[in-house]
Amino acid sequence: MAEAVNEPQRGADSSWMAWVYDNPLLILITFVVLLILRDSMGDLRRRWFAAFANWFNKDVDVKMQELKKDVFAGLSSCESHDPELRKSGGLKILEIGVGTGTNFEFYPEGTKLTVVDPNPHFKQYYNENRKKFPNIQSEEIIVSTGEEMYMVPSNSVDVVVVTLVFCSVTNAQKVLKQILRVLVPGGKFYFFEHIAEFDTARHSLRKRIQSLLTNCGLWPFLFDNCHLTRDFLDELRASGFSTLKAERFHNHITHPIFQLIQPCLKGVAEK
Ligand SMILES: C[S@@+](CC[C@H](N)C(=O)[O-])C[C@H]1O[C@@H](n2cnc3c(N)ncnc32)[C@H](O)[C@@H]1O
Repeated sequence: MAEAVNEPQRGADSSWMAWVYDNPLLILITFVVLLILRDSMGDLRRRWFAAFANWFNKDVDVKMQELKKDVFAGLSSCESHDPELRKSGGLKILEIGVGTGTNFEFYPEGTKLTVVDPNPHFKQYYNENRKKFPNIQSEEIIVSTGEEMYMVPSNSVDVVVVTLVFCSVTNAQKVLKQILRVLVPGGKFYFFEHIAEFDTARHSLRKRIQSLLTNCGLWPFLFDNCHLTRDFLDELRASGFSTLKAERFHNHITHPIFQLIQPCLKGVAEK
């Protein structure tokens, strides 16, 4: 298995993180209030997250899109297993956890796109976005988790794309198994995720804040089960892909809250 892991260094933690670390009681009280409200909120949390993601994608995510360009650079050299699609240069792509649909711009002309997402409240935002890309044959969202997407046929897609999703899944191993199942032999899996701080010598405070906000449950509660403490590289290594290229790095998003998601992992694996 060919594998490359690169871990560049970057600047120091910011002062607002120190404030968070100094005020665990306030954070705990906020969390308890939100927990009390939770039962009366029903589906509101998922609605809120879809609306939040839509805002994030229009504002902060502009910088995320810059980073993704690099992740998807290799897509242009992929070829479809389907002779008809191959002729037109298109690909059969499955995107897991599509959200509002932020990755259309990276897909080649004529792509056939299948998407799954467990949150039905993303449909309205996704449907708005897909109208802007008539060059891509996108399907309606299949409401399902990546763990349970048994409706997607085995050996049927050239490429699987997952961006900023593994932080929220219940079982990363199951999702990876499903990805291997649906990919054609030689198919590619492109990923881009925020992960737990890995440069603990320079960013020990960030690491502690990530643990505090995740372990007290506040961050997962606010952001649809998102965990700041994950890094699925080891699971990926053990999952049975024939090649893997992965890079850990720090992105340069300076938005105060989202400094917590500066540590990232990107790469591509082949079935
Ligand atoms: C932060 S959003 C990222 C959306 C999009 N991939 C992007 O890069 O903009 C996380 C997405 O993962 C979805 N998600 C959460 N748990 C999932 C699971 N178990 N399987 C598939 N998708 C999941 C959420 O509904 C949400 O759409």
